[in-house]
Amino acid sequence: MKAAVVSEFDSAPRYEDFPIPVPAGQDQMLVDVLAAGLHPRVRSQADGSHYTSTGELPLVPGVDGVGRGPDGRLRYFVLPDTTAGAMAEQTVIDTRRSIVLAEGTDPVAVAAAMNPAMSSWVALRQRVSFQPGQDVFVLGATGNAGQMAIQVAKRLGAGQIVAAGRDADRLAALPALGATAIVPLGAADTAERLAKTAADVDVVLDYLWGPPAADAMAAIITSRADRGHPLSWIEIGSVAGPTAAIPSAALRAARLQIVGSGQGSVSTREYLAELGVLAGEIASGAIAVDARPVPLAQVEQAWAATDARHRIVLVP
Ligand SMILES: NC(=O)c1ccc[n+]([C@@H]2O[C@H](COP(=O)([O-])OP(=O)(O)OC[C@H]3O[C@@H](n4cnc5c(N)ncnc54)[C@H](OP(=O)(O)O)[C@@H]3O)[C@@H](O)[C@H]2O)c1
Repeated sequence: MKAAVVSEFDSAPRYEDFPIPVPAGQDQMLVDVLAAGLHPRVRSQADGSHYTSTGELPLVPGVDGVGRGPDGRLRYFVLPDTTAGAMAEQTVIDTRRSIVLAEGTDPVAVAAAMNPAMSSWVALRQRVSFQPGQDVFVLGATGNAGQMAIQVAKRLGAGQIVAAGRDADRLAALPALGATAIVPLGAADTAERLAKTAADVDVVLDYLWGPPAADAMAAIITSRADRGHPLSWIEIGSVAGPTAAIPSAALRAARLQIVGSGQGSVSTREYLAELGVLAGEIASGAIAVDARPVPLAQVEQAWAATDARHRIVLVP
């Protein structure tokens, strides 16, 4: 079969022949892949930098996707750590890590949206006891996952939804998705604007980490009306840096708890519990991402396109 094949971690995958993987055990199934999302998680899998990487090569990247098995049913699947990923004409799935989609569901939309949407969905539903009416601050709201976080927070009943990001055009588009206030990052008055709009939020969904997280934390904590009011800071992504200089006083001066949300801190069982309802939200169009389908044969060009405006989906 044809697949996107990584032979060395410092070059993009290439469209090449790869052996068809073989199901082992009654829960495994060979599926024809219809769509597989090119998420940041997949890029870090393909360059060996993700924390789950074992260094084994060659590998076919792709952590999730939509496919059709011999039973004729359309499924969204999440793969376990494997060297035979979703960016191939066929892959082996574990049916216990899949859900059957209604016939007529757009495979590209689901493959594009599940990974970025799951990041905030699972954070709010599994990592904190989020209640409707609570206020949310999305740090790094201009990427695909951040844009979906605004929609997810709204869908789950958030009150105020403050969105901060760098790209001015995409930031300006966020109120249409549900943001009640927007704050440009890197401006002279960023801290002041955060103090005005986000001081009293209940939950932070942080896609950036690094210096913007430390700066935003200082701005929020020092301006809270009630520092005894709980603030849950959920670390989800680290596009601005793998480490952040959090002052110790931040943890003493306010009722701040910092938790992470991702593979490991959220169990497979907890992820699986959320798949069905989230897929339904996406299939109905209630939560949407701008998906761009690209033929699998053009995987090298897809890899070179890093514009976060769209989520690329490879289509075998
Ligand atoms: N833990 C989880 O469950 C989970 C799930 C999905 C994604 N993630 C992580 O979440 C992060 C975002 O994912 P995504 O799918 O949204 O990626 P994406 O669509 O590629 O968006 C990334 C965004 O990061 C912003 N950015 C990059 N460097 C920045 C910096 N130094 N300061 C401020 N903004 C910066 C860019 O915004 P501008 O265009 O405004 O510059 C870009 O829009 C990634 O780290 C990803 O691995 C985690």
